[in-house]
Amino acid sequence: MHTFCYILIVFTSFFKIYAEVNDRYYPRYHLAPPRGWMNDPNGFCKFKNEYHLFYQHNPDSSLAPGDISWGHAKSKDLFHWEHLPIAMRPDQDYDRSGVFSGSAIVENDTMYLFYTGHVNHPGQSPDHEEHQALAGAQMESLLLNIKTIL
Ligand SMILES: *[C@@H]1O[C@H](CO)[C@@H](O)[C@H](O)[C@H]1NC(C)=O
Repeated sequence: MHTFCYILIVFTSFFKIYAEVNDRYYPRYHLAPPRGWMNDPNGFCKFKNEYHLFYQHNPDSSLAPGDISWGHAKSKDLFHWEHLPIAMRPDQDYDRSGVFSGSAIVENDTMYLFYTGHVNHPGQSPDHEEHQALAGAQMESLLLNIKTIL
């Protein structure tokens, strides 16, 4: 009985991991998120001797964009990538339906990310609005929580 329970635990643990991430088609070379939906690269830049690459990302589903966030990874050689916490989520009035595409500049040891804040208005005309927005960070924490509308 003891052995049976042990085997059952190992089996269910394995099945749980396998059910979360099916890596059959997971890229071995190109950057891909740990899980979820990915679209275009954003804010590609070199900062403090490392490359940073952001991308349009829905961490909650691989089937639909959802409310798009910016995924984030960094690399020293553009081959080995380290996944970092999601850089920006749709959490402001002007980007609540999506932190859409944008780019980066680095000046005076600060990384600035310019992006389009997207807000849906279902059933209205027009049915959405978009705003140019800016986020910046001195990147010790890598959390881009300083956002503003332009
Ligand atoms: C960066 O520093 C220079 C020199 O102090 C300054 O003129 C410039 O405005 C700074 N850039 C930003 C974006 O603050």
